[in-house]
Formats: sequence, structure tokens, C-alpha cells
Amino acid sequence: MNLLQGKVAIVTGGASGIGKATARLFAGEGAQVVVADTNALAGQAVVDLIEQSGGQAFFQALDVRSDEDCAALVAATLERYGRLDIAFNNAGISGTPALIEAQPLAQWRQVLDVNLTGVFNCLVHQVQAMKEKGGAIINTASIMGLQGAPGAAAYAASKHGVIGLTRSAALEYAKHGIRINALCPGYVVTPMTTGPETEFDARVLDTALKRLAMRRLGEPHEQAEMVLWLASDSASYVTGAHFVVDGGATA
Ligand code: NAI
Repeated sequence: MNLLQGKVAIVTGGASGIGKATARLFAGEGAQVVVADTNALAGQAVVDLIEQSGGQAFFQALDVRSDEDCAALVAATLERYGRLDIAFNNAGISGTPALIEAQPLAQWRQVLDVNLTGVFNCLVHQVQAMKEKGGAIINTASIMGLQGAPGAAAYAASKHGVIGLTRSAALEYAKHGIRINALCPGYVVTPMTTGPETEFDARVLDTALKRLAMRRLGEPHEQAEMVLWLASDSASYVTGAHFVVDGGATA
């Protein structure tokens, strides 16, 4: 299929997990894809996979905490592909689990900086590039953007923030033909949750699994399918909304 033929898409956090699956799906649907991440080795590997499958992509080093990096990402996209139609602002970290009273301020700030300010930094430059011709932006929140998470207050606060930011941005830029929505994944098998260096509390996953309607964790490509729909013209009347893909976790 060629749902995104002729479109240019940025995927932040594109080196791994949900971003990687989405970058590959976008490219498979005909988009030219910019894989942006702090992890250059893994990011270039995703580009190689896309090119081996006949798609087009390039890697751009990006730390979403840096406004300069986000400006450079959009500039590099415009220079290489001449336009920007789609952005999936997906880079994120889980942070170190801690009760609020035991959470060092530096850790709180780090999670907010990456997960929330990082999305803001990307949006600032993306909307300017899209204002003339319109576009679609999808920001990764979480089901923790809809409910509390004991031991992960910073993460939950950052993801609630992403939903508020998404709604506000959608209201500001609808008149420019830019649709802006949020994705709320449930528990997905990625390096963040189940990888060797994960900080995610395995007990949280065990407990969630027992309560999950579908009795299994999600796969990254199941999130990517929702992002593809939101990015495509099929979602032409959809903006300022959030979409839960969680196997029934919040049902
Ligand atoms: P992941 O750890 O596999 O991928 C995250 C990617 O973001 C990595 O490639 C990492 O290098 C990159 N990244 C981290 N900090 C960055 C920064 N400052 N600048 C640029 N890139 C940076 O994780 P996963 O699971 O694919 O997560 C993707 C998004 O989905 C995150 O926003 C996460 O919070 C969200 N999410 C994940 C869930 C899950 O169960 N895996 C559930 C709900 C939301």
C-alpha cells in the first residue's frame, strides 16, 4: 500500500521500539522518513533496514531537550526532502522509579525535559515548516497521561502534559491545516519496558498483565498502525484528540 506516498515524515525516538516500528511502517507506505534519535548507531541501523526494503530515509542526530537540535532536524528535513508533512514526536524515557518524597529534583527535571519539553521543542519548529501546506503531528503520551502511576509521578505528569500540549497546539494550528493528536500506548514490549537496561519496575508489568483484558503486552507495530492512521488522510477530521492503544488496560 502507499498511504503516505509523496509525504515526508520525521520520527523522533526512531532508533528503537515504537519509533522504529513506525519509521519502518511509514517508509513501507511510501514516505521519505527522517529517523531522529540520540542513539546514532541504532538510528542508522533503522535507516539501513528501510533502505534494504526499498524505502528512503536518513538519520539525524537529535536530543529533543535541545532547541537547536530540533531546529536543525527540521532544517535538515527541508534541505534533503524539500517539505515536511508528518511528525511523530515519540522520543521518551521512563525515568527512575521513586516515591515523590524520594525523587531527586534532577530526575524529575530530566523526565519532564525529555518527555514534555522535548515535544514542545519539536513542535515549535515543525508547525512553522507546516503552516503553509498543513500536516499531521502525533505526540506520544501514554495511558499514564490519563491515570496516576505510583512511583512514576514525573512520568505521569510529563505524559498528562503531552496531552494538554497536544490539545492546545491543535487549537492553535487547525486554521493552518495542521492536525495534532496524541497516542496513548499501554504496556508495549520495547527496550524501555523489557530491555536489558530498563528502569521499568518488572512488578508493575506483572500486575498489569494480570489485569489486562487481552492478557498480553502490546507489540510496537500495533502502536505504529494507529500512528499511520493518524498521519494519513484517512484521519482528515481528527485533531486535538488522544488515542488509547492498550489491549484494554484502561477499560
Ligand atoms: P524505547 O526506549 O525503545 O525508545 C525510545 C527512543 O527514544 C530511544 O531510541 C532513545 O534513544 C530515544 N530517546 C531517549 N531520549 C531521547 C532524547 N533526549 N532525544 C532524542 N531521542 C531520545 O522506548 P519505547 O517504548 O519505544 O517508547 C517510545 C515512546 O512511547 C516514549 O515516549 C514512551 O514514553 C512511550 N510509551 C511507551 C510505552 C511502553 O510500554 N513501551 C507505554 C506508553 C508510552
